[in-house]
Amino acid sequence: MGGVPRQREIREIWGVGNGRDGGVGNKGAFSWHQAFTNAMFLVATFLLMILLVRGSLQVCAPDCTGVDPGFSVKDPTDCTKYYICLDTSGDGKLVASSESLSCPDGQFFLDEHTIPRCTPLPEFLPNTCKSMCNPCVPNCPAVGALEPHPINCSRYYVCLEDNHVIEESCPPHKGHFDYKFGECTADNTVCYNYCDPCVPHCTTVDQRVEDPYDCTKFHLCIMGGLANFKCPHHQVYNRYAGLCEENVYCLPTC
Ligand SMILES: *[C@@H]1O[C@H](CO)[C@@H](O)[C@H](O)[C@H]1NC(C)=O
Repeated sequence: MGGVPRQREIREIWGVGNGRDGGVGNKGAFSWHQAFTNAMFLVATFLLMILLVRGSLQVCAPDCTGVDPGFSVKDPTDCTKYYICLDTSGDGKLVASSESLSCPDGQFFLDEHTIPRCTPLPEFLPNTCKSMCNPCVPNCPAVGALEPHPINCSRYYVCLEDNHVIEESCPPHKGHFDYKFGECTADNTVCYNYCDPCVPHCTTVDQRVEDPYDCTKFHLCIMGGLANFKCPHHQVYNRYAGLCEENVYCLPTC
């Protein structure tokens, strides 16, 4: 999901596909404005290259880059949770706590604050829970990026155009996919472990998600939580249609 806008950005910078190519009406002589635009284009391209190199980082995982030790970072999958970053081995590299922590009831973790923290939701931030990350699907940041398989550490995805992916396996002598560096290694401590298929994952408010344990139930994502629903008599929740329907075959995920 998160990959789509960035991909569109790439198209715009390269002027492909949506008719917003620069230069229209600028066909005359040399202009400082044009030179400045070209320079900005180069800077943008350079920044984009940095983004692409960073592209293998899984966007649903906590990111302790540039954070002071002991401080917290958001859980990209849940607007009411956060991780704490610590230098656990004394080498200056910060690692996130292995589990995320929950804010007190009714509070949300906001990284818009100078010191990111749990707070009651201020009214001027209505979009707080509206773009969360589903850790159980590949979230391609760019074409060519490698994304971890949500549950099998020996497998990974290669991102293609339009959020399509192909699945690949690590070679036997390097059987584990390191999601931070986007490569297969022999080290088994590098696995991606942010997907629990038995936990419903909301990516936005008002979304419906299946109950992983019971096909006749579903959840509605609300600000910072879930409301539970049961389908009417003999109906089953169809995750593709987002509706309760009759004669739907369903095997619970968990
Ligand atoms: C994980 O993927 C590897 C490589 O494709 C495969 O051999 C293995 O059986 C898979 N493990 C599970 C539990 O599915």
